[in-house]
Amino acid sequence: MGRNAVLRFAASLFESRPTRSSLAHVFASRPTPSSLGRKLASGALAQYFYQPTGSESEEYHKWYFNSFVWKKTKWMGVDCFKSVADMWNYQEILFELKPSLVIEFGSARGGSALFFANIMRQIGEPFKVLSVDVHHGPLDPAPQCDSDILFVESRSTAPAIAEHIQRLKSEFTGKIFAILDSDHSMNHVLAEMKLLRPLLSAGDYLVVEDSTLNGHPVLPGWGPGPYEAIEAYEDEFPNDYTHDVARENKFGWTFAPNGYLIRN
Ligand SMILES: C[S@@+](CC[C@H](N)C(=O)[O-])C[C@H]1O[C@@H](n2cnc3c(N)ncnc32)[C@H](O)[C@@H]1O
Repeated sequence: MGRNAVLRFAASLFESRPTRSSLAHVFASRPTPSSLGRKLASGALAQYFYQPTGSESEEYHKWYFNSFVWKKTKWMGVDCFKSVADMWNYQEILFELKPSLVIEFGSARGGSALFFANIMRQIGEPFKVLSVDVHHGPLDPAPQCDSDILFVESRSTAPAIAEHIQRLKSEFTGKIFAILDSDHSMNHVLAEMKLLRPLLSAGDYLVVEDSTLNGHPVLPGWGPGPYEAIEAYEDEFPNDYTHDVARENKFGWTFAPNGYLIRN
């Protein structure tokens, strides 16, 4: 018997569907030692018997993007245009990193800034969220009222933004978590990465969002975007960042492929 046949046979043992009567039996009676053992074993061994086709995560990624579910995602009632898998990753990164400064380029309705502020408050150390957008007209009132968030209306690449971050760094002296989610064209993202270059230190975290665009894997033909900006940046400064590949791959897909970066 080949390896695959063995796997299929074993999987069929664990995955066989219970009939109506056997289901009734399961709910009606206490688990016997053998059925309990079987349940525990099937849970523990499922990861070995599961046989992915290889296209699941990419198909889900494309469905997630093309169905626009990310446009209907809210944090505490405020639009937050992200993948929930990435948001969970950010929560885990923030908890481990415990930054004192979160820098966001691209506020939109303010749901993501509110998300960062809520997580940071729960962590409990002093912090500030700086959220920059060229147009703050669409901001929701809830994040606007949050005293831990500083909204600045500006182009993210304006020299005044670098000066602003420098001033905040002298008050909030710990680690920085920065996230780029404004204009997604390659040149703009590259300029944002270069603006942050002298401001980030070893161990600080940078997420370049929406590198999924231009066929990575969504919207092929969109044109050079964040993915290409990361490549161009790394051509010029190959030693600046280490890719946090484990984080990127954790949930099987991300809107920021190649975009989870730890400053060296
Ligand atoms: C994708 S949305 C941000 C989504 C938000 N971070 C969230 O997760 O809900 C992009 C935002 O970038 C802003 N934007 C576009 N060009 C910009 C620029 N040059 N500088 C700063 N913000 C810009 C837009 O006004 C828009 O609100």
